[in-house]
Amino acid sequence: MSDYLWFEGIPFPSVNEEERIEEIRNVFVIRDEDTVILTYPKSGTNWLIEIVCLIQSKGDPTWIQSVPIWERSLWIESKRGYQKLISKEGPRLINSHLPFHFFPKSFFSSKAKIIYVIRNPRDVLVSGYFFWSKTTLVKIPESLTTYFEWFIKGNVAFGSWFEHTRAWLSMRKRDNFLLLSYEDIKKDTKSTIKKICDFLGKKLEPDELDMVLKYSSFQAMKENKMSNLSLIRKVVAPNGLVLLRKGMTGDWKNYFTVAQAEAFDKVFQEKMAGFPPGLFPWE
Ligand code: A3P
Repeated sequence: MSDYLWFEGIPFPSVNEEERIEEIRNVFVIRDEDTVILTYPKSGTNWLIEIVCLIQSKGDPTWIQSVPIWERSLWIESKRGYQKLISKEGPRLINSHLPFHFFPKSFFSSKAKIIYVIRNPRDVLVSGYFFWSKTTLVKIPESLTTYFEWFIKGNVAFGSWFEHTRAWLSMRKRDNFLLLSYEDIKKDTKSTIKKICDFLGKKLEPDELDMVLKYSSFQAMKENKMSNLSLIRKVVAPNGLVLLRKGMTGDWKNYFTVAQAEAFDKVFQEKMAGFPPGLFPWE
């Protein structure tokens, strides 16, 4: 078990390094042709990566079934991903959980496209509790009650969900920013795939679209060892990781007490005040 790397008040998983975080923010150059998938952890990041990869391959599963997901879309904040991104030519698929003010400054004057996925933070909390507890990257809570308290305070990986989301949503009216929610993707995956295609300027034939849908399903991803994180290094997760846990909306209701649900509602109302009704499909 390890602790977080605390940097400028944000707890990062312990594999992060201050120097790299600074370099990413100040030196890394985002290019106009890049596509970025940006999320707060446990919001459906890997699902989106799978969908975008399948859109790129026009539904052909060869790529997603032969190359690990972290090699297809490179994590900017990981050492390996960062080094590969620097030397990679052509359009890059980039992944990140970085809070807004840590993201490369070069992005804000670029035409690079960014897809930001949000999810009911209550489900994010439950998903995160089960996921992070299996890794050696963070401080392990003794119970869900403890993790609940840390989450509300923002003392979990990549900091406060509320701050992460508020800050990134300030970009939502830009042409190069696509806002999606886990809930909407689940409700109508096909329409979401079409929306992503429009945003990325890609066109799929109906049968190609069906293949994207088929190979990005929960079951298909769960069975794909290149996507389900079963190939993750033992040093990160000695007993293995389950990424595809339940894949449902509203699972928090199976875990929160009535008091926790009420406390969470109150915090949500306070911290997310000012956003238009309807922006958060789960509320
Ligand atoms: P649960 O833990 O609630 O099951 P991330 O990729 O950001 O780490 O998010 C992981 C969450 O997304 C997990 O939620 C996982 O089950 C869900 N997920 C991943 N792929 C999915 C898919 N194809 N369909 C539905 N949910 C998916």
